[in-house]
Amino acid sequence: MGKRKVLVTGSGGQLGGVICTEFEDEALVPLTHADLDLVDHDAVIEAVATHAPSIIINCAGYNRVDDAEGNAEAALAVNAFGVRSLACAANNVGAVFVQYSTDFVFDGTATAPYTEQDEASPRSVYGASKLIGEWFASDVSRAYILRVESLFGGVPARSSIDQIIDAVESGREAHVFTDRVVSPSYAHDVAHATRSLIDAKAPAGLYHCVNAGHATWLQLAEEIARQLRSTSSLKPISATSLSLPAVRPVFCALSNAKLGAAGVTMPAWQDAVARYLASRQRT
Ligand SMILES: NC(=O)c1ccc[n+]([C@@H]2O[C@H](COP(=O)([O-])OP(=O)(O)OC[C@H]3O[C@@H](n4cnc5c(N)ncnc54)[C@H](OP(=O)(O)O)[C@@H]3O)[C@@H](O)[C@H]2O)c1
Repeated sequence: MGKRKVLVTGSGGQLGGVICTEFEDEALVPLTHADLDLVDHDAVIEAVATHAPSIIINCAGYNRVDDAEGNAEAALAVNAFGVRSLACAANNVGAVFVQYSTDFVFDGTATAPYTEQDEASPRSVYGASKLIGEWFASDVSRAYILRVESLFGGVPARSSIDQIIDAVESGREAHVFTDRVVSPSYAHDVAHATRSLIDAKAPAGLYHCVNAGHATWLQLAEEIARQLRSTSSLKPISATSLSLPAVRPVFCALSNAKLGAAGVTMPAWQDAVARYLASRQRT
């Protein structure tokens, strides 16, 4: 098989960098925000027509959840209409399209892990903008819409989990939520799953692309401290006690069973944390 042309938007972001590494043996076209602004519809159509990729992977997004509350137009421009432009461009050249979404499309009132069948009901501007992006992405005949959450291990490493690791390693006190339940996503595993779905020609559609299992942020931080053999002090706090501009869904465990049924098994989050900590020690 010859090399495939893979166009990656938002390549300067946390997931973008890891996706570029995953596909580095292909004919890669990494485009940062400075290279291509998704808000510029004509530029998106032109860039895709010029490069004529067979795969487009959109790692760009307006991800400042709290800022989005007062800037709905800016969040929608990237997360919804930017995706519409890319979807249109993908259809023009017949490319496979990958869009990443979020657990924030749910209201967080469930008591069991959400499946792809569960109704989305976002409580924040960010969540609503990402949900509209999902709908636009699904206009592409071969679109993979992958919901990730609490992403970690990206390049650059600036996630909440990286901040907890930094605090634990340096013996600083780390504030962690006791009342938010998440299924974390290791960027390396997300990138590998993305490639596996494309290579296997898995059925297009919506998939929850998270590591197996779920935990509160406190349990996650305790596991990090245990693996680092640290006695660092973790300071439990309640997310609901903070008055943040955007509402955070409380229970957001996602089931990745559909992904598993498509032949892509995501390792347990504890295993992902161990591999990530080992990779940090090597670098
Ligand atoms: N991080 C998480 O925990 C998380 C959770 C759920 C879902 N997701 C989703 O996963 C995907 C990847 O997230 P991430 O954490 O890798 O994001 P990230 O680190 O914030 O990177 C996003 C990238 O998008 C670029 N960007 C912003 N506006 C753009 C525009 N108008 N045109 C082109 N590029 C633009 C940013 O460039 P500048 O920085 O230069 O603006 C940045 O390089 C996103 O779809 C995100 O919504 C992430």
